[in-house]
Amino acid sequence: MEDKIRVLVPQEDVEKRIREMAEEISRDYKGETLHLVCILRGSIFFTCELAKYLTVPVTIDFMSVSSYGDGMESSGSIKIIKDLDDSIQNKNVLVIEDIIDSGRTLSHLLSLLKVREPKSLKLCTLLDKPDRRVVPVDVDYTGMEIPDLFVVGYGLDYAQKYRNLPYIGVVEQ
Ligand code: IMP
Ligand code: MG
Repeated sequence: MEDKIRVLVPQEDVEKRIREMAEEISRDYKGETLHLVCILRGSIFFTCELAKYLTVPVTIDFMSVSSYGDGMESSGSIKIIKDLDDSIQNKNVLVIEDIIDSGRTLSHLLSLLKVREPKSLKLCTLLDKPDRRVVPVDVDYTGMEIPDLFVVGYGLDYAQKYRNLPYIGVVEQ
């Protein structure tokens, strides 16, 4: 059966906000090289769009961690599926996340990365659902706060579908 998708944030609003974030990040890292850590798979669209508008030198690496199954609920378990290819020692690391929900994935991930001695470690997320937070996380750059809804598109999936939608939508049940 087809799921019904309602547009929550249209493409032009998502992309306008990402350009604003890129301006702010470029200002903050002026004179430095920025190492983007894209958290697969959900963050790929956001990472690409953001990176296009950054005006500081950028390198990109990818990491994949599991936090969710194919449904809408957190499994509570987190493991590294794919680690970074390069060392982050002495780099200005900016972790790029699609959405922060309970905060479990990010708090675990940040503590893992911190021990690798980056020069700096910051967190950037396209979406945040603050009402759902279980574990506190310090977020340095937030695209948009959204209510407690399960969203898809712009990299976000429901059972691996809808990542390719160019807007943020809500799956109507
Ligand atoms: P957390 O550990 O609960 O913060 O979960 C973060 C991860 O869960 C995100 O990186 C997403 O992969 C997934 N996730 C959380 N909320 C949503 C949603 O509304 N739609 C799609 N994926 C979500
Ligand atoms: Mg994710």
